[in-house]
Amino acid sequence: MKPKNQGSMKNPDGFGTVGNPTCGDIMTMYIKVKKTKNKSRNGRDKEIISDIKFETLGCAAAIATSSMVTEMAKGKSLDDAFKITRQSVADELEGLPPAKMHCSNLAEGALKRAIEDYRSKAEKGSKKTPEKTKKAAATKKKKK
Ligand code: FES
Repeated sequence: MKPKNQGSMKNPDGFGTVGNPTCGDIMTMYIKVKKTKNKSRNGRDKEIISDIKFETLGCAAAIATSSMVTEMAKGKSLDDAFKITRQSVADELEGLPPAKMHCSNLAEGALKRAIEDYRSKAEKGSKKTPEKTKKAAATKKKKK
């Protein structure tokens, strides 16, 4: 298995981390977004996922579905990438065993969180980064 787009990303435009309640595994997805001159249906500049990476401590199925999600999302508009579902990912992989369908939740969930993170930063002008978030979480833990 040669997963694509695996690893971290410096200065992502958006990122999202999710945990899988079924097995306890976690996944982080990072995206870089490029605005194009084409307008989307809402009249704003169309935003395209120009680069995407994932990091996971999940199983082989989680890695395979994440690799597929990144391949499906790269080059898509944020709106279209947001429509990627765990079923469409499983279909692209020509099926997943039923016991492993929950693993594909990680990739779908992390991608959606990364897109939401980008959109919320774009609205608020926030400078939140994965490093700052991890530091803040560590500081919070120490204070307890
Ligand atoms: Fe945890 Fe697959 S068993 S992601």
